[in-house]
Amino acid sequence: MNFPAPKTQPGVGHLGRWGRAPLPLLEEGAALGPVFRLQLWRPTVVGYSPDWNRFVLGDVLTFRSKGSMSGLSPYLGAGVVRTDEPDHRPRRRELNPHFTHRSVQDLRPCIADIAVRRLPLGPFDAVAWAAATVREILAATFFGGLFPPRLLAQFLRPLDRALPAPLLRRPWLFHRMNRALAHALAIAPSGTLGAALRELPGGLEEARVALSAGYDTTAHTLAWLLFHAAGHPWWCEPDMREAVIDEVLRLYPAGWLGSRRCAEDTEFAGVTIARGTLVLYSPYLTHRDPTLWKEPLSFHPGRFADPLPPWGYIPFAAGERTCLGRPLARLILDSVLSAFAGSQLDHVQGDPRPRAAITLAPAEPLLLRRKV
Ligand code: HEM
Repeated sequence: MNFPAPKTQPGVGHLGRWGRAPLPLLEEGAALGPVFRLQLWRPTVVGYSPDWNRFVLGDVLTFRSKGSMSGLSPYLGAGVVRTDEPDHRPRRRELNPHFTHRSVQDLRPCIADIAVRRLPLGPFDAVAWAAATVREILAATFFGGLFPPRLLAQFLRPLDRALPAPLLRRPWLFHRMNRALAHALAIAPSGTLGAALRELPGGLEEARVALSAGYDTTAHTLAWLLFHAAGHPWWCEPDMREAVIDEVLRLYPAGWLGSRRCAEDTEFAGVTIARGTLVLYSPYLTHRDPTLWKEPLSFHPGRFADPLPPWGYIPFAAGERTCLGRPLARLILDSVLSAFAGSQLDHVQGDPRPRAAITLAPAEPLLLRRKV
């Protein structure tokens, strides 16, 4: 017995389709069952049921980060992302206290100031605006704004581009970034994330990885958030914001695919998964599964008034490798959305359809107009 698989192309398995358009391939696989096989550069198993999510995310010894897809990108193949047990847990124990909900709350005024100062007037592209705003917020929350903005933009830009841009090695750019980071960490004002990270061994690499992991994820989510808030002014109000953010993260989970490498033979639903297999979970498929979500493709924040399906809502993953920046990302999204309260936001042009690159991104510009 084996898991089902979508049709392959001779010689390349699923690699050709994966490179061109992974989302339709995933959707075709999902229609065959909650766990399916792909033949990428190595044998691959993808699943999206809550049981699968618990199976993969709940077992950090069998399902390891080293050898997974994140290692393909110089942006993500470093620091805590590349660390496995027995080193991962102590590393998280060092990092977590600086990124908790409570500790990032002190950064709210600084984030809110930037959001208000950058509020656009007239027509604007939410995708480009969100990217520039998140970069400025990251520079402020990590370094008190004391980081060369052009270098930060240049360093992060490949993450916004289609594959293979985020996967290419850029030794000179990384060298310049590391040099600037060393200086920025040394002078980061107290109370910033940079000041906390400089006290940790490997803090420079962790700062670089956190900026990389936090940039396009948060920026793309913010662009979709503004797109959906347009025409619904009450969604910017305090009692609605959380559900609207939850719903954006459900429909467009920037981390659309998580990957691990299987460290030893294991078994799921009576099928053996061999050591070395690439094991994928997909928040994108889980969040669009009609057995878990009523009318999964409609945007309906009200659904978050009901209890969530356990292991069925995982925009920040779950378990020990859950996103380090979740509280910061939510704080940014909430602060920026609240800055738009009281103004009129309308659609001008754009379709929120996602495209899959290293993260899920809006496929085209999302043109909005803000009036006061
Ligand atoms: C809306 C924004 C964000 C989303 C949707 C998101 C999503 C995720 C997901 C799904 C993972 C798990 C990846 C895996 O299983 O391999 C993850 C991990 C991670 N995220 Fe985020 N993230 C966001 C923002 C941020 C921010 C702002 C930061 C930095 C401050 C950050 C730092 C990290 C780090 C360091 C990890 C690796 C954790 C580990 O391996 O222990 N993320 N994120």
